Amino acid sequence: MTEHDGIDDLWGETFPEAARLYERALKVFPNGVTHDNRFHKPFPIYIRRAQGARKWDVDGREYVDYTMGHGALLLGHAHPTLVKAVAEQVALGTHYGACHELEVVWGQLVIDLVPSAERVRFTASGTEATLMAFRLCRAFTGKRKIVKFEGHFHGWHDNAFIGVQPPYNVPAPGVLKEVHDSVILCPPNDAGRLDEILSKEKDVALVVIEPTGAGFGTIPTQPGFLKELREITSAHGVLLHFDEVITGFRCAPGGAQAYYGVKPDITTLAKILAGGMPGGCVTGRADLLELLEEKGYRGQRFVHPGTFNANPVSAAAGVATLQAVASGEEIARANRAAVTLRRRLNDAIEARKLPWCAYGTFSEFYILPDCGGPQAAEEVVAGRFDYRRLKGGNPELSRKFRSAMTLNGVDMHGMKGLLSSVHTDEDLDQTMQAFDRSVDMLKKEGLV
Ligand SMILES: Cc1ncc(COP(=O)(O)O)c(C=O)c1O
Repeated sequence: MTEHDGIDDLWGETFPEAARLYERALKVFPNGVTHDNRFHKPFPIYIRRAQGARKWDVDGREYVDYTMGHGALLLGHAHPTLVKAVAEQVALGTHYGACHELEVVWGQLVIDLVPSAERVRFTASGTEATLMAFRLCRAFTGKRKIVKFEGHFHGWHDNAFIGVQPPYNVPAPGVLKEVHDSVILCPPNDAGRLDEILSKEKDVALVVIEPTGAGFGTIPTQPGFLKELREITSAHGVLLHFDEVITGFRCAPGGAQAYYGVKPDITTLAKILAGGMPGGCVTGRADLLELLEEKGYRGQRFVHPGTFNANPVSAAAGVATLQAVASGEEIARANRAAVTLRRRLNDAIEARKLPWCAYGTFSEFYILPDCGGPQAAEEVVAGRFDYRRLKGGNPELSRKFRSAMTLNGVDMHGMKGLLSSVHTDEDLDQTMQAFDRSVDMLKKEGLV
């Protein structure tokens, strides 16, 4: 590295092996990547192995990791208990094409931990889980429409990928207009607007929400809103769906519903549920999930095959993880590390007089530029900040910030990240050093 090199020049010099792999990947994958969040310009880094809170790439560099398997890892990478459980299961067979004991143990753990869980059906991903939940609610109520909140993410199937990124009312390419029109968008935290929608619109089967807010709290749900939501949906006879794919087993062993004491009718789970392996589930009221039974419900039956439902390897990882999170200690540890990191980021922002803040709840953090300074963090969490400015942000700053942090030994998705129970003070120290150096690099480029 030389003094005057820009961030993109340094990137090219620093990651020659990744550059070579990316050239090959471009001929294989659209944009050279297999998940949109892994796309990065000029090219992404390539990881070779991971352990605890750390990852190592093909160019021999080490990172403190804040991507944590897109939120699937609460116990960090390659947790010894998990490695043992998965290795033992692989040796016993990876797919029986039949029922097996571990799936019963896994499902029972969901019922024991999650307050609203009376019955469980496993799927292969969170997207499959919300797909099932939406269809179940429609079949159960005989109603067609879904109400969701602007910015909230529920996977990428046709009914879910609506109103996720601003501008919220533009249909995604390939999604039929009638499907788009069957989803009604409500501004986040707006109980009055929701009541108005449900008073006017009599064809609504469910209201779905990411309980802590869009993008795991990027647009935070305000304290008290979930209780109002429960009251409003009950008053209108509309089903309430908590999409806890990311909050499940992260906010509390019983998810956000346990933490906030609000019981939805139906819940979707994935990520931590399967301990970093593929897997998801729908759980909730027994009468709703009865639609999947042979006898069905009012003469209807929901048919649900799925090659990887309750796959034994995912079940082994899921059981090991849920047993580890059940006491709440691992969750508390991740939350404490996140509180410290947000505070230290805000101290550094304040010291450098940047118009940024670090905010978040539970084990995540977001760095918001152009908000006036750290005092904005409280405003954002309390819902007094314009929510339309919280998603999308400043893509060029976010890209360069991510690049600079990577060059300084920290991997995160843009200006946000997730912590695990194994992030240590040393990891945070290294992160803060990386933050300081990264801000210096951004200054040189005139970005701050
Ligand atoms: C709240 C929420 N719902 C659904 C999904 C989709 O889950 P998957 O990526 O397992 O399909 C995600 C993934 O990030 C999510 O955060």
